[in-house]
Amino acid sequence: MKRRNFILSSLLAAALPARSVGSPVPKFKRSPFSLGVASGDCTPDGFVLWTRVAPNPMENGGGAGFADLPVFWELSLDPQMKKIIRSGWVSASPKLAHSVHIDLSGLESNHVYWYRFQCGGHFSRIGKTKTLPLEINNSSKIKFVTTSCQNYTHGYFVAYEYMLEDEPDFILHLGDYIYDTSFGETFRRHETEDPPQSLAEFRLRHALYKTDEHLQNAHAKVPFFTMIDNHDAVEDNSTETTVKRAAAYQAWYEHMPVRGYPFLGANEFSLHRNIKIGRLAEIKLLDCRQFRSIREICDQNPQSSLGFGNFRHKCDDIFEKNRTMLGRAQTDWLVDNLKSNLASWNVIASPGPFLPFRLENEKKELRYIGAWDAYPENRQEILNAIERGPGHPLVLSGDMHSFWAIDASEDTFLNRKTELIEFVSSSVSANWPEPLSKPVQVNLKNNKQIKFYNGEKRGYFLHELNTNTWIATAKGVLNAKDRKSKIVQLAKFQVNKEKPGFKKI
Ligand SMILES: [Fe+2]
Repeated sequence: MKRRNFILSSLLAAALPARSVGSPVPKFKRSPFSLGVASGDCTPDGFVLWTRVAPNPMENGGGAGFADLPVFWELSLDPQMKKIIRSGWVSASPKLAHSVHIDLSGLESNHVYWYRFQCGGHFSRIGKTKTLPLEINNSSKIKFVTTSCQNYTHGYFVAYEYMLEDEPDFILHLGDYIYDTSFGETFRRHETEDPPQSLAEFRLRHALYKTDEHLQNAHAKVPFFTMIDNHDAVEDNSTETTVKRAAAYQAWYEHMPVRGYPFLGANEFSLHRNIKIGRLAEIKLLDCRQFRSIREICDQNPQSSLGFGNFRHKCDDIFEKNRTMLGRAQTDWLVDNLKSNLASWNVIASPGPFLPFRLENEKKELRYIGAWDAYPENRQEILNAIERGPGHPLVLSGDMHSFWAIDASEDTFLNRKTELIEFVSSSVSANWPEPLSKPVQVNLKNNKQIKFYNGEKRGYFLHELNTNTWIATAKGVLNAKDRKSKIVQLAKFQVNKEKPGFKKI
């Protein structure tokens, strides 16, 4: 630490109010805030502030020792942290990897705040965050980003640099925040080639991702909403994976600005939630992994090279009545929320694509078993609710590592036409390899509902909306393996709240 900073830290540390939590703090040689700061799960009157005390993040335990540590937090109205309006001590426990979650409420809506943490005389960087708006009028606007799928080994997370330039109110990360595997890529290495199984291993994987400079910078400047997909935890609901699932969920909670982790060792975690932005939009975030029926169906597919086994011949198993993506309780919650929506835009955020894709190979019909095409009964139930719910329906999804814009008002193979639009955002960095992309490309001609597809670029969708219009812009990074890559606009779509479909602008 430079002498001037040291004196400043010492003075401020001396000025801290007395604390009543934690043990004496060890003298850290390095900043204990090596994984940065974050905020998220915003409401009109609050948000969660996050950090983790980890001076040596790639060591087991993060180099923070085995005792509870006192951490001081501050919330300010200005970026210089002079107008502090809330502050307090919190105890960071080694049982939760010395992570800190400050859940705040009672704040002003649609308001920017700054925050920081302090531990052992070290300050974190200053983070910026914002509450959601409460009242919406005709001139109100909101701007946010959807993205997903950041494989550390496949490229840099440079897309975040451009998301920040767009100045979104929040970033909605649809899942695959970490990857369990590199799929043989060596551009950047995971800390080990072995997929994480234990809590200690999941913690190290999360810590590695949180050291990424682009990701860390984005978290410090914009609040996130984060969701879970298969590479974050485990594929599906299976009794064989409960221990691994518990480890994955705990480590995920320890590294995300989220609320609601039930208790240590829990292998259930209530993750579905509704972002309510006044009467402008309600965005239902889905948990498509925790309650999903088993994925390993239609095993008679003889061509494992086709989509790495993700594209299977359509079989009767798919149509089993009890087969579910969301489970009963979450389906009921979603149906209720879709029908009682009060906002202009009635939105579902799903990790994987919702609308169907007609896929054929050698004159046989296939299904992508990674998303909703393998759960048609559950999808029908949700479509019924969408059609009865007020507000214009939209689905925002990811998982495909490619960009799609889909208009279901032209769809002829759901046995219905529905005024539903889906924007599938590409990956931050994860590849879209040929065994997956080629069957999609070849079958596009059989899918007239797909108005736009780009499998070449990594990136994100920017969404800008008011009460009448939704504009979605697909932005693609030229080369995710270039830390300073440029970005290009791939396509821009406009949805009118009163009309089906969208137009390209
Ligand atoms: Fe992914």
